[in-house]
Parts: sequence; C-alpha cells; structure tokens
Amino acid sequence: MKQTFELTVNGERRQVDAEDQSTLLHVLREGLGLKGSRFGCGVGQCGACVVLLDGRPAPSCDVPMWSAVGRDVTTVEGLADGDVLHPVQQAVLDEQAAQCGYCVSGILVSAAALLAENPHPDESTVAAALDRHLCRCGAQRRIVRAVVRAGARGAGRR
Ligand code: FES
Ligand code: FES
Repeated sequence: MKQTFELTVNGERRQVDAEDQSTLLHVLREGLGLKGSRFGCGVGQCGACVVLLDGRPAPSCDVPMWSAVGRDVTTVEGLADGDVLHPVQQAVLDEQAAQCGYCVSGILVSAAALLAENPHPDESTVAAALDRHLCRCGAQRRIVRAVVRAGARGAGRR
C-alpha cells in the first residue's frame, strides 16, 4: 500500500509517495529522481548505494523507507556546493582515480563523512573507512590515494 513519507534530502524537505515496503534507495532513485546512488548487491554489502543518514554512512538499499522518515539524508548529489565540487569529488577527478564510476558515488559519500570527522586521514585510515565498498574495476587503491590527497588539500575544513 502506498503512503506519503517526509524526509530531508540534501537540505530540502521532501514529501514522496511510495509503497510502505520500499527501501530508501528505491525512493531516492525512482521517487525523487536522484540516480547518483547506485543499486549493486541490494543486500547492504557492496556500498554502491551509500548515503549519509543523519551524517553517518548507511547502505540505502538496506534502509526501509519508514525508518528514514524525519531524518536527514545526504546523497552524492548533495556533496557539491552549487557548482563547486566537494574537494573529494575534485580530487577523484584530478587524479583520474575512477574507471567505470559505478562504485564511486557511494565511496565519495563515505569519504566525505570520513573527512568531516578526520580532516587529514592517512592511507590506512582511508582504506579502513572505505573497506565496505567494492570496486569491480580495481580502482580502490587510486581512489584511496585521491581521498588522502583531498585531506592534504584541506577538504576537511569545508
Ligand atoms: S546496493 Fe546497497 S550495499 Fe550494495
Ligand atoms: S570504478 Fe568501476 S566499479 Fe569502481
């Protein structure tokens, strides 16, 4: 049965009609048109769908919509400040760290959360924070290095 859910997405109050058994990922993509969060495994293991829920990374494929009601959701679309990319987005671009890009939106969200908490993480800290994210292209090490460089450039001061 459909019902109306209210939540805050990327700083905006949103209302959306969805089936009561929907996942947050489904609602973000199909209800709100935010296609940056990707569907990978669908069981909370690959990290492709990670968003921030009240500031903490969470696999949105594994979050029932009802449990997101009234909470703050940040998707990859909410990382940039207008036309200015988040420093970790810019670093991944500058370093050409990604290949196909499928895993990257979830990784960027987790990396932004890490940098907000720890502005200058070392490589092992970044690798541990991104451990849950699978990258089928094998670009993980380059992405980790880009996140470290984003921290060195002051991404955490944002
Ligand atoms: S699609 Fe959500 S963790 Fe894999
Ligand atoms: S860049 Fe292709 S899955 Fe990670």
